[in-house]
Amino acid sequence: MTLPLSSRFRFAPDLTICRILNGMWQVSGAHGTVGPEPAVAEMFAYHDAGFTTWDLADHYGPAETFIGNFRHQFGARYGDERLSEIQAFTKWVPRPQRMTRRVVDEAIGVSLSRMGVECLDLLQFHWWDYSNEGYLDALDHLAELKHEGKIRHLALTNFDTERLRVIAEHGIRIVSNQVQYSLVDRRPEALMAAFCRENAVTLLSYGTLLGGLLSERYLGRPEPRRAELVTASLQKYKNMIDAWGGWALFQELLAALKQIAERHRVSIANVGVRYILDRPAVAGVIIGARLGIAQHIADNTRVFGFALDTEDHALIETILVKSRDLMRVIGDCGDEYR
Ligand SMILES: NC(=O)c1ccc[n+]([C@@H]2O[C@H](COP(=O)([O-])OP(=O)(O)OC[C@H]3O[C@@H](n4cnc5c(N)ncnc54)[C@H](OP(=O)(O)O)[C@@H]3O)[C@@H](O)[C@H]2O)c1
Repeated sequence: MTLPLSSRFRFAPDLTICRILNGMWQVSGAHGTVGPEPAVAEMFAYHDAGFTTWDLADHYGPAETFIGNFRHQFGARYGDERLSEIQAFTKWVPRPQRMTRRVVDEAIGVSLSRMGVECLDLLQFHWWDYSNEGYLDALDHLAELKHEGKIRHLALTNFDTERLRVIAEHGIRIVSNQVQYSLVDRRPEALMAAFCRENAVTLLSYGTLLGGLLSERYLGRPEPRRAELVTASLQKYKNMIDAWGGWALFQELLAALKQIAERHRVSIANVGVRYILDRPAVAGVIIGARLGIAQHIADNTRVFGFALDTEDHALIETILVKSRDLMRVIGDCGDEYR
């Protein structure tokens, strides 16, 4: 392992993770064509560098199968006793329907079998429509599966603060909520972070690098046209920048981040990730990995080698005060999906 100890986080008493998680939406097909064999081969490079934690979902194309294949090859190479070094966090994103025990069993069974595990490290549950309270039924069944040893820890993704409270009052123990969180989208700070701290829930952040827009590659660049945004992530987060304050303000942010990055001899991406890792309640930042297409392992390692100081924060704030409040424009975390 090449990452320092500060890269590790005790996510639960029996589960330690890398604070930068490898995001697998990027293998779904919406971010370029990924070859299964080179992709799985590259998963070793992430793991061997210390990036041992993966974020995936039932609907990210072959992602769960990649984990299954990676575990199989990993066991053959290093011995099955070392398989516990890998953490794989999947999601269940059901279409709206009645949440019977059978529906839940079948969905979790598919993930277990594709990933080649007896028990999911973390199951992150998503729900599309709060007016349908079936999400509480689903969570009750998932809690039973946890009790039966098929799920180690139960988590959510894209739930708002109000529903986190409903779920807590319903008596379901949730360890984390995965939400969009970046220098551009700071909605988790409005309500969510305080609730999480009071209730021992952590946040896993995505969209922190805005699909790659938060990097030197876009510094000083004219506003990209739609056709130039070649991945689903770039399109998604360009919309977010438009809602937040537009391309000119984003260029001001990139220029300020570049100044900070140069001071610390790191990259703009490093500053963006470090900023979110230091926010209250944040357990980890998920960074998308286009396995076999593009790779940033060496650069992302630098996140754990520097700290932002008050001068850096003050400079960032001079830009952020000029932006729109996305809590007003969009609503609480996850409202963009509803
Ligand atoms: N729960 C949800 O609803 C949800 C939604 C979205 C995402 N996610 C999770 O979050 C993960 C991340 O996805 P995202 O869409 O948010 O993308 P992201 O992490 O904001 O962006 C990923 C892209 O950033 C670029 N990048 C990575 N490290 C870099 C570095 N050091 N310097 C410069 N560029 C760098 C890479 O671009 P290139 O490949 O072009 O080099 C990479 O493909 C997903 O895989 C998924 O696991 C969850």
